[in-house]
Amino acid sequence: MIQTVFSGMRPTGKLHLGHLVGALQSWVTLQETHRCVYSIVDWHALMGEYENTSRIKADILDMAIDWLACGVDPERSIVFVQSRVPEHLELQMVLSCLTPLGWLERNPTYKEQLREITSRDLQTYAFLGYPVLQAADILLYKAQAVPIGEDQLPHLELTREIARRFNFIYKREFFTDCKAILTPTSRLLGMDGRKMSKSYQNAINLSDSPEEIVKKVRSMITDPRRIRLTDPGHPQECNVFSYYKAFCPERAEDVISWCSGATKGCTDCKKILAEAIIEYLRPIRERRTRLTQDLSYVQNILDRGAEQARLLAQATMREVREAVFG
Ligand code: TRP
Ligand code: SF4
Repeated sequence: MIQTVFSGMRPTGKLHLGHLVGALQSWVTLQETHRCVYSIVDWHALMGEYENTSRIKADILDMAIDWLACGVDPERSIVFVQSRVPEHLELQMVLSCLTPLGWLERNPTYKEQLREITSRDLQTYAFLGYPVLQAADILLYKAQAVPIGEDQLPHLELTREIARRFNFIYKREFFTDCKAILTPTSRLLGMDGRKMSKSYQNAINLSDSPEEIVKKVRSMITDPRRIRLTDPGHPQECNVFSYYKAFCPERAEDVISWCSGATKGCTDCKKILAEAIIEYLRPIRERRTRLTQDLSYVQNILDRGAEQARLLAQATMREVREAVFG
């Protein structure tokens, strides 16, 4: 039987090349073999951004545009906004009742975020329960497979534990096990050599214009040991080379030779890379432009996606209520 895939992303800002090679390309490929359900998880965004919600609405639409432009296909997959399907919160409630507090308090992601994110107050009831809502997302569609990055593995483990506890308490094999499909962690760093992140503003966004791409690539940090044109460089230690491998692998051999042979300078090397990235993103950029000009089309897709998702979600909730209350 064809398996169901579920995944979600928080609408908290522009998508960049890291999202493309890390997640979206896997999402698009999975459409060939699975029934895919992809959700813009705005309740999860709200957990972090509740004090400053002004951008969430625009970010949702922007995320939908990016997904569609990258090849998420609403004819084959269900694409929807989490808050439009209220059953996510219903199932979250049921699962909250049976999730031991200790599981959430011990969650490594939770502890890490509390430590690292100081700009916002995350000492809230909802944020502690973040993984319970994530479990509800996945279990509502009885997904067998969840494409996620490595950082999300603890959350998937919690989902499985919550599912098993539900089955144990209500004495039935209701939720089946779900497994992670690990999406490649992108080895691409930001322009400044730090982790790619929207808060550092150091990434090439899917919506960047060719001019912006040229400017950003020009600012990329290169092998620090190559100061003069005549100094041989070390492509394996240069972030520019990682981008070549991802977006222009057919030139990788050339780069190794001109860099370690000191026959071409970093400025030219980056110029060629910028052109390659602009070319690589061309179809995405063109589709993006078209979609941006037809927002009612995008809105329709989200409306239809919510209806489709809701049918599945309601069916599961009927069974859940029956399992819980008889
Ligand atoms: N927590 C995920 C992230 O930050 C987003 C998410 C929410 C998710 N619900 C999900 C991912 C369900 C996979 C499945 O990346
Ligand atoms: Fe990096 Fe290219 Fe310069 Fe080599 S030539 S150090 S790969 S930018």
